[in-house]
Amino acid sequence: MGSASSGAESFKVADLRQNYTRQILLEQDVNPNPFLQFQVWFAQACEAQTIEPNAMTLATVTSEGKPSARIVLLKDFDAQGFVFYTNFQSRKGQELAQHPAAALVFWWGELERQVRIEGDITPVPEVEAEAYFQSRPRGSQLGAWASNQSQVVPNRDVLETRLQQLEQEYGDRPIPRPPYWGGYRLVPTYFEFWQGRPNRLHDRLCYRQTSPYTWNIERLSP
Ligand SMILES: Cc1cc2nc3c(=O)[nH]c(=O)nc-3n(C[C@H](O)[C@H](O)[C@H](O)COP(=O)(O)O)c2cc1C
Repeated sequence: MGSASSGAESFKVADLRQNYTRQILLEQDVNPNPFLQFQVWFAQACEAQTIEPNAMTLATVTSEGKPSARIVLLKDFDAQGFVFYTNFQSRKGQELAQHPAAALVFWWGELERQVRIEGDITPVPEVEAEAYFQSRPRGSQLGAWASNQSQVVPNRDVLETRLQQLEQEYGDRPIPRPPYWGGYRLVPTYFEFWQGRPNRLHDRLCYRQTSPYTWNIERLSP
């Protein structure tokens, strides 16, 4: 256990070790507004050509109060919050209906950076979800109809057949947004910006909301 082999070599997982040396994050360098600070780091993650810089882990809470996490794509962000799209009937959709709060985690390895965001969840207005759905590639639009996300499916053929049927059914006609498909916006009350540093003495600056437009910045021990 705890070992892996690639080709002739075998190594212990415990021996995988990275010393972070690339950048630093000091109080005087961060924007007092966490949304603007996120904008700066997100732009840098895009410039650094990280793979899917908008991929984020979304953690929700089950009806038994247990954690549940998966990756989704950030599709918009501004001072209103962080938007992702999904199937409302999926596991995450059901969990968010019961408990409309979530946490997001970004990991931009090339920059040795992590961002954590926590807050409440609100549905994206219909008109906004509609505009985004219509901007998606046709295959993704049909995929939203073909998949009962998170439900057990007997085999892959069922999905492929369903997709083919939908392709024939719609032909060249526009594909409407499924009623169970749309967006959520996480409205943050907490941000944490993490910069890897040598000897595990990482920089962690967190922002806690103290009033609608005021954020208190504190350094956390790594
Ligand atoms: C890089 C990446 C991006 C993804 N983006 C989305 C997304 O934007 N929306 C979505 O519903 N699922 C997305 N998924 C799939 C989810 O991780 C997950 O499998 C799916 O949403 C079902 O999750 P659930 O059963 O917890 O609801 C993505 C997966 C990966 C690996």
